[in-house]
Amino acid sequence: MAQHRIIIDTDPGIDDAMAIFFALNSPEIELIGLTTTFGNGHTDLTTINALRLLEIAGRSDIPVAQGAPQPIASAFEEPGAVVHGDDAQGNLNLPLPTTQAIQQSAAEFIVEQVMNAPREITLVPIGPLTNIAMALQIEPRIAQAVREVVIMGGNALCPGNITPAAEANIFHDVEAADLVFGAEWPVTMVGLDVTQKTIMTAAQLAQFEGSAKATAQHLNGIIPFYLNFTREVNKLDGIFLHDPTTLAYLVAPDAFKTEKLYIRVESESFSRGKTWPASFMNKWSTAWLNRPLVNVCVDIDGARISDLILERLV
Ligand code: RIB
Ligand code: CA
Repeated sequence: MAQHRIIIDTDPGIDDAMAIFFALNSPEIELIGLTTTFGNGHTDLTTINALRLLEIAGRSDIPVAQGAPQPIASAFEEPGAVVHGDDAQGNLNLPLPTTQAIQQSAAEFIVEQVMNAPREITLVPIGPLTNIAMALQIEPRIAQAVREVVIMGGNALCPGNITPAAEANIFHDVEAADLVFGAEWPVTMVGLDVTQKTIMTAAQLAQFEGSAKATAQHLNGIIPFYLNFTREVNKLDGIFLHDPTTLAYLVAPDAFKTEKLYIRVESESFSRGKTWPASFMNKWSTAWLNRPLVNVCVDIDGARISDLILERLV
């Protein structure tokens, strides 16, 4: 039996596609469902992409539950098209999937799966945290019933990527993120502190071209769009592995250095979306009072994780 039974909450997305295929190619992981959110595209589009990715992988047996179209308390206006393409899959304009999402909403699916298998299911959100917060609102007891929540999002000790202060997933639903970091459940934050140290170089990416796998061929078609963006904007001859690094945490946690910190998400100012950490020293500051400790990834053996991800995807 796989060590981890997981639900990925996702906004596919180029690095989301890498993360989903990484999970499917890892014997340590059993993927029991995908739930979809807005972020790299609107939720209707990311749901289509999730279904298509499973079809490409020959895994349409895995259910997809469509999530919320908007944040819990603000408005979603700007999909990440500049990074991921207008179709969020590198402008490949794939044919529509032949399958459909299930009738349950993402939040309902999460609640049902977690409550039916106490302390067995790990939630892996790699998009904005709206569905996870909504699941908590529907059924607060999922906090005790979940095994772990491993989040791609935030920036504890480094600058943001969507603004100088904030990381994109957190920025897109600040209020949901603060709820999720404030709930009494075991949360690991895999943020920019480590995902920007985990880079797949253009030379590594070239290996996808020679692979016979349909999933690798799909990645070979979509990644160039993302690589053009990082070359131009980040002056980097490679791509950041945000979402697949989060999945890799489940497989190789010893490659990550973590610290227990209290996290608050800034909601008021021009630094909206900043994940502010507090250590034991300053936990009495009013805004951080009565918050649970979060397991925050602060450093990583990025080369090892990048090699692991490549090995599982090619
Ligand atoms: O900041 C990185 C995150 O934003 C990733 O989840 C990526 O897919 C984008 O949505
Ligand atoms: Ca994502």
